[in-house]
Amino acid sequence: MLKGEKVGLRARHEDDIPVLRAELYDDVVNSSRAEGGPWRPITPGSKDPRLVVDDTKEGSVQFSVVELEGGTLIGTATLWGIDTHNRCAHIGLGLLRTARGKGYGTDVVATLCHYGFVVRSLHRLQIETLADNHAMLRSAEHNGFTREGVLRSSAWVMGEFLDEVLLGLLAEEWKQGAKSQV
Ligand SMILES: CC(C)(COP(=O)(O)OP(=O)(O)OC[C@H]1O[C@@H](n2cnc3c(N)ncnc32)[C@H](O)[C@@H]1OP(=O)(O)O)[C@@H](O)C(=O)NCCC(=O)NCCS
Repeated sequence: MLKGEKVGLRARHEDDIPVLRAELYDDVVNSSRAEGGPWRPITPGSKDPRLVVDDTKEGSVQFSVVELEGGTLIGTATLWGIDTHNRCAHIGLGLLRTARGKGYGTDVVATLCHYGFVVRSLHRLQIETLADNHAMLRSAEHNGFTREGVLRSSAWVMGEFLDEVLLGLLAEEWKQGAKSQV
């Protein structure tokens, strides 16, 4: 398990799946805001790739996020679009509603940075998020990510086009364990 200050990132367990489906992916507004495509229901028992991890896929690594103290499941974290030639990847995360606003998101980003830069020897990590997702923007900026640009009207979300912000962090800008005071 990868350990941050407050969270652990571990493999997906069978009994995580019903919790993540009910509390994360069945939430139409949350899913529509956090994912790049339209919401659709996930049939119980299906092999939906958001829930059932295929370890043979080289391009992404999916984690379940737990509280370090007690081990309670609190969400998901993903390193996706891993490009071993350009040594870059994207970060994605989603926490259960009850786990938000407690500093866990910031710690998940820090732990994913450790995985990307230290374990995987990547050079650049990238995040795309809606311009009004202040919690995600702050979680990224606390870890040293820079806002690199705005993708105007790039996301169709629940009846309207919204802007997305592109954030990037290079290995040499990242200092493990030293979150910026941004
Ligand atoms: C985005 C998300 C991962 C952030 O994790 P979190 O644990 O809620 O965030 P943190 O508690 O670490 O807070 C990070 C910062 O955001 C701020 N913040 C938290 N919730 C906020 C809110 N609703 N509005 C504005 N700012 C907020 C915090 O105050 C903190 O900033 P500060 O330290 O300057 O005060 C989490 O809210 C989530 O899972 N949201 C739904 C899914 C999602 O949007 N995923 C990202 C898709 S790209």
